[in-house]
Amino acid sequence: MARIRRPQLARSLRLGFLIAAIIGVATGFLAWHQVEQERRTDLDDVNRRAQALAQQLSAAVGNALALPDPAASAALRPHLDSYRTLLGYAVFRPDGHLVAASEAVQDFADRLAPVLLRAVYLGADAVRLIRFQGTPIEAVAVPLKNQRGLLQGVLVVAQDVSFIDDRATGRLVQFGFWILILTLLTVTLVVGATWLTYERPLHKLADWMRRLRTENVGEAPPPGLPSEMLVSETGRLAASFRAARSTGQRLSQVAMHAEQVWTRDRLRVHAIAALGEGRQLIVVSNREPYMHQMRDGKVQAIVPAGGLVTALDPVLQACGGVWVAHGAGDADRQAADGSGRLMVPPDDARYTLRRVWLTREEEQGYYYGFSNEGIWPLCHLAHERPVFRALDWEAYRQANLRFAETVLDEIGDGSAVVLVQDYQLALLPRLLKAVRPDLQVGLFWHIPWPNPEAFRICPYGAELLTGMLGADLVGFHLQQHCNSFLDTVDRMLESRLDWDHFSVEFKGHVSRVRPFPISVQDWAERKVPAGEELEQQIAELKQEHNLGNAFIAVGVDRIDYTKGLPERFRAVDRFLEKYPQYRGRFTFVELGAPSRTHIRRYRDHIAQLETIADEINWKYQTGDWQPIHFLVAHHDVRAVHAFLTMASMCIVSSLHDGMNLVAKEYVAAQATREGVLILSEFAGAARELADAIIINPYDTEQFAEAIHSGVEMKAAERHARMDRMHQAVQEHNIYRWAATFLTTLAATRNQVPGT
Ligand code: F6P
Repeated sequence: MARIRRPQLARSLRLGFLIAAIIGVATGFLAWHQVEQERRTDLDDVNRRAQALAQQLSAAVGNALALPDPAASAALRPHLDSYRTLLGYAVFRPDGHLVAASEAVQDFADRLAPVLLRAVYLGADAVRLIRFQGTPIEAVAVPLKNQRGLLQGVLVVAQDVSFIDDRATGRLVQFGFWILILTLLTVTLVVGATWLTYERPLHKLADWMRRLRTENVGEAPPPGLPSEMLVSETGRLAASFRAARSTGQRLSQVAMHAEQVWTRDRLRVHAIAALGEGRQLIVVSNREPYMHQMRDGKVQAIVPAGGLVTALDPVLQACGGVWVAHGAGDADRQAADGSGRLMVPPDDARYTLRRVWLTREEEQGYYYGFSNEGIWPLCHLAHERPVFRALDWEAYRQANLRFAETVLDEIGDGSAVVLVQDYQLALLPRLLKAVRPDLQVGLFWHIPWPNPEAFRICPYGAELLTGMLGADLVGFHLQQHCNSFLDTVDRMLESRLDWDHFSVEFKGHVSRVRPFPISVQDWAERKVPAGEELEQQIAELKQEHNLGNAFIAVGVDRIDYTKGLPERFRAVDRFLEKYPQYRGRFTFVELGAPSRTHIRRYRDHIAQLETIADEINWKYQTGDWQPIHFLVAHHDVRAVHAFLTMASMCIVSSLHDGMNLVAKEYVAAQATREGVLILSEFAGAARELADAIIINPYDTEQFAEAIHSGVEMKAAERHARMDRMHQAVQEHNIYRWAATFLTTLAATRNQVPGT
């Protein structure tokens, strides 16, 4: 039993006394009111009796008053005896002259003048309470008239009413006693109740939190917390704490083994061990890593823009295996065999690409419709309204089925670890597990996960979650996305959540949920120019785009409304407006890859951006300088690398982004550590790259100031910041991401609920 501490007792006592005081004042008032009522009733009785007595005497007193005073006094004497509470009578002439009075009344007869006056003046009975030597006396004065109606005199009846006061005092003492008992009872009850209901559980909670912080306790939060909300929040707190602690432990392990940076070779060895004997690695995504297109009558391979390909191609190149993806290029069929297979990369075959063929209608409904007009805006807080059409949903289900069939065909009788990628394939994990429960299936979600309130507008939300929870491991970039996902499952499915282990048991299957911040590979490993060749390339690009010796800032994006491109252009505009000395000396180059252009919103967005860029250029351009170069095209990896290397600044201004690998690509390209990164606080990368200049893209003033401070930043600070970020990206590269994901997925084998 927890001991009561002084401050807690004082707090409970204060509350108890407050409540008791309120009750005491209320009941005290009621008691006083009751006693006053009784007192008034008693006085009324006394008065009525006095008037009756006066009535009885009035005839005798009237006769006596007709006589002169000595005779009148003698005639009245026998009538003036008193009894019990009656002190006696006094008889006055109308002018106030005392004719006769009982013995007890004579002592205070002169105090009767006011009541006498009142009776004479009003010609009616008058009553007055007087005090004589501490005794309360009720005096009732009755005017007496003769037969002609003339006032003859006044008869005063005086009664001792101290018994009424005594009775009232007795009643008040009695009430006071009960109020005291009530107060003590209330204080005891309130102190006891608050202690049992709040103080003791909160005391235990504080104790548990302290031990969680200092001793890493494994137990659940204490039972009996005062509200449901506290119960669920503490569970989450503990889980986040443990997650943070294990991240901290991982980070310190990383620091201890800093020399062991993850490389392609190290991942290969690790993957073989993690996959186990005879199991192949299969990656499934909508977007393919190499796409064949017909250009000028020739088949050409291009690498599609986007973080998923950037991240996973090096993993497949390191580990080998099969990548199953939609063959979306217009020359894809020509470049593949009859089963849709080919070896990639095209000039250095390292793994198999297996293409899935979809009809135009299927692609329209599944990819453009449900995935990119539905789930994409649903998961990004960019104020774009999601659209859910029943036909698109049907196409999405069909396409997921098609992917499942292709994956199962690839696996045949063998065994495999399947890494499903992204929101286009949410149904795939359950479809695969339904047929092959022995497969190990991981799902990585490359975009943010919204909060439950935002997600529940999706009419097919429960089906999506059900599909996802077929996976043994569900990965997101950030812990925050994991929390929101579990919250969503909690609200929408009948499932068992384990916040301690961050897992969900649904339909008898356990899925773990973990953060895996994705990353990039070192540029040195890629087929991009270096040294003199790179310098030459940069010089050519500068000449081609007329960049001269200006300070170059760069942005590299798929053209998407989530990337904050209008905000970026406006910030450049504001910067040049506020700091005119940079006109002619600062150039912003945006490498924008057209994306999802069959969706009208995306086409409109390109047009809108071109208009804004034109307006700004028109406003400032002089001679052969213009502030914004908006280069709308598919830029190959060599051009992207050259721009990232030459740029003194990179701007990433996403309105919402799962990670944003351009930020990490820029940092990785900064071999000389000269550059400055401006990074949106709403991109997942901002959690890791804290040395960037962090901005809110909606705040144009702040954004323009960030550009200004980046341009003016001293070399020493630039180097220090970039060095720290560079080191972080090198250590937390894509090989580490893949190794951690595979290890965690391998650990889910044979897992039992609740572990
Ligand atoms: O980042 C989300 C994502 O869908 C990735 O999966 C992909 O790399 C990128 O956007 C490109 O999108 P899309 O495949 O529609 O061109």
